[in-house]
Amino acid sequence: MQKILVTGGAGYIGSHTVLELANAGYTPIIVDNFSNSEERVLQGLAQILGHVVVCHKVDCTDAAALQEVFSQEGDIAGVIHFAAFKAVGESVAEPLKYYQNNMAGLVTLLQVMEANKVQNLVFSSSCTVYGVPEKLPVTEETPTQKANSPYGNTKKIDEEILQDIAASGNYGIKTIALRYFNPIGAHESALIGELPLGVPNNLVPFITQTAAGIRESLTVFGTDYDTPDGSNVRDYVHVVDLAKAHVTAIQRLEKPASVAFEVFNIGTGQGSSVLDVVKAFEKASGKPFNYKIGPRRAGDVPAIYADVTKATQELGFKTSLSLEESLASSWKWQQQLMK
Ligand code: UD1
Repeated sequence: MQKILVTGGAGYIGSHTVLELANAGYTPIIVDNFSNSEERVLQGLAQILGHVVVCHKVDCTDAAALQEVFSQEGDIAGVIHFAAFKAVGESVAEPLKYYQNNMAGLVTLLQVMEANKVQNLVFSSSCTVYGVPEKLPVTEETPTQKANSPYGNTKKIDEEILQDIAASGNYGIKTIALRYFNPIGAHESALIGELPLGVPNNLVPFITQTAAGIRESLTVFGTDYDTPDGSNVRDYVHVVDLAKAHVTAIQRLEKPASVAFEVFNIGTGQGSSVLDVVKAFEKASGKPFNYKIGPRRAGDVPAIYADVTKATQELGFKTSLSLEESLASSWKWQQQLMK
């Protein structure tokens, strides 16, 4: 069974990907520093899989520790690199922390991969690279724009680093960058899911925590945008569908003819407004939901959703769960957390 190293494998998208890799017959090896995840994720994974997943508590910016993992594990067929900070607001206040972690982490990983002749990499990118798009939906050909936050800039620069590495022809490293839209939901078992530390920044965990009584009410950040109902439009994709795209990306890299650098949008192709999400959550949870309308949040893009033709055709990507079903799985996970 081929080993795939998953940095940030104890995180939200990482843990769901670890599971899908195991389901597809790979041996996932987690590398995580637990800066934004909890060790109980490993118990959830073990419960679902019926066996423990190997995990190294290592920071990706620590070259010596990362090398030790590669030495201990021996043959590694590929790496999926999730480990990064992702809070947009925090990145504006503490840009150095973001540039250090998100860029030094990638560069260190690439150096260690090269030293160990590991050549296949799937990189966690984001639709944030498109900035405020001129046309919707966005395809992979849509021009990238100046990032609206240091977080977004790290994703943009990281993609450029990977492109330069590929163009040099010198390292043998091939990368698929997956540009995620808005991942939501949890595994159907409700044994793994999103574990935000502190007050959630993202919409869906804020909604589920509000429904659970942990937060008083949701503030919808603006209803005066030029969108059908005035609230922001996003593309909410179920995390298990997203996780599966990583497995097919790894399989694509394993083919000898694969190209050195490719990007794919991973979303549903459907735009949903914040108010649509609230309504769908009310249906999914079967109870009314408490929210109020507030001012815009700085840096929010009015509307963005994906054209997923390329991922559908080339990766066989498909969406299996509707918005309501995805939210139902988030709610089930939140209820499980309360127990
Ligand atoms: C942003 C980034 C995304 C990044 C993600 C990481 C953009 C376009 N997207 O996603 O690339 O990966 O952060 O965290 O830069 N909302 C409310 N009330 C709340 C919380 C959110 O109304 O309490 C609204 C937001 O205004 C937004 C939507 O919900 O319209 C989704 O917000 P969020 O979950 O934070 O994700 P993005 O900002 O889309």
